[in-house]
Amino acid sequence: MNTRGEHVLKFDFSNCFKENLGTGFTVSELLTDASTVTHSLNYIEESVPGFLRILKTDESLNEVKSLEKWVQKFDSIVVIGIGGSALGNRALHSALKGFSWNDLSNNQREGKARVLVLDNVDPESFKVIIDKINFKNTLFNVISKSGTTVETMANYLVIRQLLENQGIPPKEHFLFTTDSKKGVLREIADKEGIRTLNIPHDVGGRFSVLTQVGLLSAMAEGINIEDLYEGAKKAVRKYINCEKPEENPLVVAALIFHKSIKQNKNISVMMPYSKRLYDFADWYRQLWAESLGKRYDLDGREVNIGQTPVKALGAIDQHSQIQLYNEGPNDKIITFIKVNEFSNEIKLPVYENIPDELQYLSGNDFSNLIIRELEGTAAALTNNGVQNMTVIFDKINESSIGDLIVFYELLTAVMGKLLNIDPYNQPGVELGKKITRLLMGKEEEDINEKIVKAKRRYLL
Ligand code: PA5
Repeated sequence: MNTRGEHVLKFDFSNCFKENLGTGFTVSELLTDASTVTHSLNYIEESVPGFLRILKTDESLNEVKSLEKWVQKFDSIVVIGIGGSALGNRALHSALKGFSWNDLSNNQREGKARVLVLDNVDPESFKVIIDKINFKNTLFNVISKSGTTVETMANYLVIRQLLENQGIPPKEHFLFTTDSKKGVLREIADKEGIRTLNIPHDVGGRFSVLTQVGLLSAMAEGINIEDLYEGAKKAVRKYINCEKPEENPLVVAALIFHKSIKQNKNISVMMPYSKRLYDFADWYRQLWAESLGKRYDLDGREVNIGQTPVKALGAIDQHSQIQLYNEGPNDKIITFIKVNEFSNEIKLPVYENIPDELQYLSGNDFSNLIIRELEGTAAALTNNGVQNMTVIFDKINESSIGDLIVFYELLTAVMGKLLNIDPYNQPGVELGKKITRLLMGKEEEDINEKIVKAKRRYLL
């Protein structure tokens, strides 16, 4: 908590340096390159990428709030989208509403909506979601910037048919969140008068959680989107205006990650010790992978750069992954996420007859145990020379989540600049989308059919 009583994020980088690891670089060695990051930050501030521009006004927030009354009529919101058009919604839901929200009654939720995400085209998981809702009081928010993504379009078509089969007017149960001018969804909306929200033209999917994409479902389930926005805006000021690079966690993190990539640490593990943040790690995986995984740099050189993001969950993955992280190839940098104050506590009992070996647990509590597990794991990794850092939450709330989102969006943008690549495109994703459409029988220009046929020859 800072002096104004606000919950702000803290960052512990101690285990990234020679002082603790016994190997690698010292704090002062790292900071000799600080000006490269501050220049990149200045460049990003001046070029105003979409994810920063949207936080300079309340346009996205106000557009979403204009639908508040209508949205309140629904018991459930089903987000139909994928990738950047779904992961942010799920991350906000898990972090700020927790796990049991969708199982509560309407009364217990005080009329706020349940939020479910239909992203895959796995026929079995589709049924699991559909079986949980009553179409008559469900709003389907179809989110797609391009308006062409096959999974989203397929889910939309099936839901539309199911609505029509029940005699429910699609116009009253669909909301399209899409580009303001282009795409099939825009065309259908214009023709049929379906309500829409605009996805800002300059914000790509994985940077869009704080636009209309993430805000509508968040508002519907009672997340305070003003506080989320305020937390995000404050974070922008904090990370961009910090005058001393050595006190700016964004500068220090960017320098550490940049060095780690240059030293062939090809894996970045995010390991929250709070299940509520596990879906945030999924959001981070997409952001880091799609933004930084690039074949060519901005000068057209083939660089095949990137860092594979991996998610793990504390304490569970201590019993699954940590052996490898400690003793396997030293090709990883680990980010732990620690939460100091949980919204629920479990006290361990004090028994008279408790076996001696378990006495240390007596009267303790789960939050203390899980935090000590994180600290023990970080210390073990440090002893093994594995770089690790910890992002610390006093408490998970709208403001601290806004801060976390901005931190990683800005960090990704800075990394793009340092690596001299375009963090906002995804040519590798586009190619796969095109080939899939071709395989499903749609004519696609610019695709060399041989790519597809050659792959088929490996079918055994
Ligand atoms: O980050 C991205 O750009 C992608 O992950 C997209 O969000 C994803 O492919 C879905 O695209 P669209 O919103 O166009 O349906």
